[in-house]
Amino acid sequence: MPADVPALPTAELHVHIEGTLEPELAFRLAERNGVRLRHAGLEELRRAYSFSDLPSFLDLYYELTAVLLQPRDFTDLAEAYLATAAAQGVRHAEVFVDPQAHLGRGVPLEVVLDGLAEAFRTAEERHGLSARLIVSFLRDRDPAEAEALVPRLRPWHDVVIGVGLDSAEVGFPPEPFARAYALAADDGLHRVAHAGEEGPPEYVVGALDRLGVERIDHGIRSLEAPALVARLAEEQIGLTVCPLSNVALRCVDDLADHPLRRMLQAGLRATVNSDDPAYFGGYLHDNTAAVTRALGLTADERRVLAENSFRTSFLPEPEQARHLAELAATGA
Ligand code: HPA
Ligand code: ZN
Repeated sequence: MPADVPALPTAELHVHIEGTLEPELAFRLAERNGVRLRHAGLEELRRAYSFSDLPSFLDLYYELTAVLLQPRDFTDLAEAYLATAAAQGVRHAEVFVDPQAHLGRGVPLEVVLDGLAEAFRTAEERHGLSARLIVSFLRDRDPAEAEALVPRLRPWHDVVIGVGLDSAEVGFPPEPFARAYALAADDGLHRVAHAGEEGPPEYVVGALDRLGVERIDHGIRSLEAPALVARLAEEQIGLTVCPLSNVALRCVDDLADHPLRRMLQAGLRATVNSDDPAYFGGYLHDNTAAVTRALGLTADERRVLAENSFRTSFLPEPEQARHLAELAATGA
């Protein structure tokens, strides 16, 4: 972890648990479960971590889920993320999981959610951070699957606090998921969606207007639409920005061109997050430190990013206030 930029207490609001699968753990789980990976060894797998766009990344991301078969695999995956996140200043995490990716390869929902819940329910005592799950629907699959999934989440509502929308974006607008989101709202779940990562600003508008989302994941392409920027600023919609992901998936050419600072200057409620840290070169603070160096972010801007993370989280108000007070006490 870089030492020259201090790690502030922060909430992580955009990280996919499957995207925290480090190559070493993938091989360990493959061996434990007798799964053969296509890659001969660690070095070869690491070399595969080079992507041209979102779909090229998703191919490997879904392929490696093959090693996750038993509840304890999911528990071990979550434990590893929680330990690393805590060491990077994360005090609260709202973590995506893609149940359809596992159901589709014959792994039952109980295996996934019981396994993750085991680690999430004890995160506070074991790692000093609170952690909740957001179940993401796969936007490149039939929306009827998403609708069927919503009532099945009820046994885990103590840890599953919301629904999201991820996977291949271009060509998969948000509107067909309106019914799934309405069902989730009826069940008291929060709602977020990936939009404006590779897809156009219209997908951000669609997610807000048709899905009723409370925040937008990525949203960087919103900057192409001035009226949308004005609306996001006016309504203070949270945007979970993932700088290293944007470069790794070539949504942004170079970190020095990343729009994060422009987003802050436009009055948008942006936060920094890691997305798929095992694949994109770093966890939360690695992202903050890298973008700080590339853009020359000031200490004030970093404090605002950390404040935004708690204000944009789904933590109850008193919990947000407690974290904001801790942040203020650091003198940042
Ligand atoms: N975008 C869309 N879907 C995803 C991502 C992402 O960055 N990571 C995992 N699923
Ligand atoms: Zn994401």
